[in-house]
Amino acid sequence: MTARQPLALGNWKMNGDMVANEQLMSGLLESSAGLLSAGGLQAGFAVPAPYLFQAAVRLKGTGFLWGAQDCSDQPKGAFTGEVSTAMLQDFEVNFCLVGHSERRARHQETDAQIAAKLQALLSANILPVLCVGESLAQREAGQAAEVVCGQVKAALKGLSADQLTRLAVAYEPIWAIGTGKTASADDAQAMHAQIRGALAGLHPQVANQVRILYGGSVKASNSQELFAQPDIDGGLVGGASLDMADMSGILQAAHQRAGRLGLL
Ligand code: 13P
Repeated sequence: MTARQPLALGNWKMNGDMVANEQLMSGLLESSAGLLSAGGLQAGFAVPAPYLFQAAVRLKGTGFLWGAQDCSDQPKGAFTGEVSTAMLQDFEVNFCLVGHSERRARHQETDAQIAAKLQALLSANILPVLCVGESLAQREAGQAAEVVCGQVKAALKGLSADQLTRLAVAYEPIWAIGTGKTASADDAQAMHAQIRGALAGLHPQVANQVRILYGGSVKASNSQELFAQPDIDGGLVGGASLDMADMSGILQAAHQRAGRLGLL
C-alpha cells in the first residue's frame, strides 16, 4: 500500500449550536486528541459557516482540522449569501467540501461551478474535498463508474499534477447518504480503484498520492472494514460525526490504518 496519510472528516451539515458544538468538540478532544498527536492521521470537521470562528478558536493548536461545507467561486461582490475563500482564510480553515450531492441536488450546482470553486480553493491554499457519487437509479442501470469518474474528470481536468496532490476526493454514493445503507467494503474499494484510475488518466505520476475518502453511513461499526481497503484512505462522515462515541470509534479505525501503513 502507498502510505497516504489517513483522513477522517466529520460533515456536520446543517446541525449544531454553540452549546452542542462545544460539547462535541471538547468531548472529541478529550477522547481522541492523543491519536492525532501521534501523527500519522488527520481528522477534522466541516462546520456550518456561522460556527467557523467557534471551531477555529476551539481547535487551533489541538491537531484537529476545521473546514467549511461550501464556498463561492467568486472573489467578492454582489453575491448575497455566499462566502468567499478569502473569508474562509480569515478563519484559517484547512479544508472545504466541494460539490456535495446535497448541493448538486438542492442548488443545482454544475460541474463547471464545482471546478471553479475548486480552483478558488486551490488558489487560497485550502484543501478542496471534491465529493462525487451516483444515485441508486444510476447504480442499478450499471452507470455508477461512468457517472462518478465523469464527475471526477469534469471537476479536475486542466489541473496541474501539483494541484492534483493538493486536494482529496470523497466518494459518497447518494443512496448510502443518511440511509443507514453503506456500500460494501468491496464495492467501495472497487469504485475507489476506478476513481484512482481516472486520476491516473489525468496525471499518472501523482494519482497514487491523492486521498480518496468514503462517505455514506460510515459508523464506528463499519469503519474498520472500510478503512482496511487499499484505496479507502479515510472517511467523510455525516450523522455519526455528531455522536461523540461513534466519531471516536471512527478516528480509532483511521488511527489503526495509519499504524498498518507504518505512519505512526
Ligand atoms: P451520512 O454519514 O449521514 O450518511 O452522510 C454522509 C455525507 O453526506 C457526508 O458528507
